[in-house]
Amino acid sequence: MSPSNPGTNSSWGGRFSEPTDAFVERFTASVDFDQRLALHDIQGSIAHATMLARVDVLSDVERDAIIEGLGEIRGEIERGEFAWSIALEDVHMNIEARLTDKIGTTGKKLHTGRSRNDQVATDIRLFLRDEIDDIAIELVRLREGLITLAEREADTIMPGFTHLQTAQPVTFGHHLLAWQEMLARDHERLFDCRKRVNVLPLGAAALAGTTYPIDRHVTAELLGFERPAENSLDAVSDRDFAIEFTAFASILLMHLSRMSEELVLWTSAQFDFIDLPDRFCTGSSIMPQKKNPDVPELVRGKTGRVYGHLMSLLTLMKSQPLAYNKDNQEDKEPLFDTLETVKGCLRAFADMAPAIESKKARMAEAARRGFSTATDLADYLVRRGVAFRDAHEIVGQSVAFGLRENKDLSEMRLEELQQFSETIGADVFEVLTLEGSVAARNHIGGTAPDQVRAAAQRARDALASLAGQA
Ligand code: ARG
Repeated sequence: MSPSNPGTNSSWGGRFSEPTDAFVERFTASVDFDQRLALHDIQGSIAHATMLARVDVLSDVERDAIIEGLGEIRGEIERGEFAWSIALEDVHMNIEARLTDKIGTTGKKLHTGRSRNDQVATDIRLFLRDEIDDIAIELVRLREGLITLAEREADTIMPGFTHLQTAQPVTFGHHLLAWQEMLARDHERLFDCRKRVNVLPLGAAALAGTTYPIDRHVTAELLGFERPAENSLDAVSDRDFAIEFTAFASILLMHLSRMSEELVLWTSAQFDFIDLPDRFCTGSSIMPQKKNPDVPELVRGKTGRVYGHLMSLLTLMKSQPLAYNKDNQEDKEPLFDTLETVKGCLRAFADMAPAIESKKARMAEAARRGFSTATDLADYLVRRGVAFRDAHEIVGQSVAFGLRENKDLSEMRLEELQQFSETIGADVFEVLTLEGSVAARNHIGGTAPDQVRAAAQRARDALASLAGQA
């Protein structure tokens, strides 16, 4: 209740002559979802009060009362005892009102020199920074799991595909390290995004700064921010950091979705390349034989909602004039859901990836079918002086013959191969084996088992150095 105008809101009632419409109160309230920021709101308020005392805007006694009161409120929230009120609109006013209940008039001094505009921007950044650090831990776990699996599968041969048609033999370890590279880039993007999250809006106040002799460097240091935001108008209105995080999340989910798609294909009876342990699968209520790869399917499906959140946030910001607008309250739910989705999907993948079991015989058999060593035969001819285009033609004819006779290149007799080129000798069978084919691609970035082992080691080093910087 406002003291001047009974029945109006206590935070701004002075100017108002009637209370907020009951529906409008619910419609504009955010406390149902922004209470998730509560602990970071308290963290920001403690730093703000500490800074205000440092510059003598608050006395030390007032600061201590505020910090003690906020500490008790934190306990109430953590124990689930805090009574959230829609009438108090959002997390900020709920906590401030509770503080004043507890410590009286001194509680009303906490908001000196700040506004909810710089407060909420600070809270989201503090919150997101912690979430980013949790996500980085899961990303490290997934990357490590893939590197370890790749080392174990360095010699396992499978078909490599283009257009989902068998192309050339590759090692399974090489394929797994391709996934790992995607995640390494995501990890860098996350790390890079964190730098722009880690900037302090507080002190911008409503939009123009404040008349109190605040020291924003102190607040920034207390909260572990790199520096105060440079411009007060930008500080209260910028949500680039949330968009950037959601863009990171969209690309990460796109990668996890691609991996999921391959896992789904590989567990099918048609491919039958891998086994996923039962604990990551579910059955069918009607078809007793079924074991469905639900976890990868769900990750693939959840990608859509994260893309949606990216579009929501981009659209939310696209026409906003400076500085703060109430539109910004809509930033939270897309961001929160993105965080939950990313954490869930990463956790599922980090648990599941090390448990992937390759079916080596099935993979090798699939690689043998489909003329996957045709390029090796062409390269063999080139080494014997045949021009590459001619070699391509010769191998094409050999493959057509194989299709008619139902024979792979390595299953043909020497005389059969020689129908297409006299240059082919008995040593050709060395290059037509799968092992020979992968071992020959022995350069950095190639699929040879030795290269996979070396690449895995480099990936480990790169991971350690990035994790060390964060
Ligand atoms: N709940 C608001 C939000 O999330 C807090 C800031 C409100 N500021 C204002 N001027 N109404 O954006």
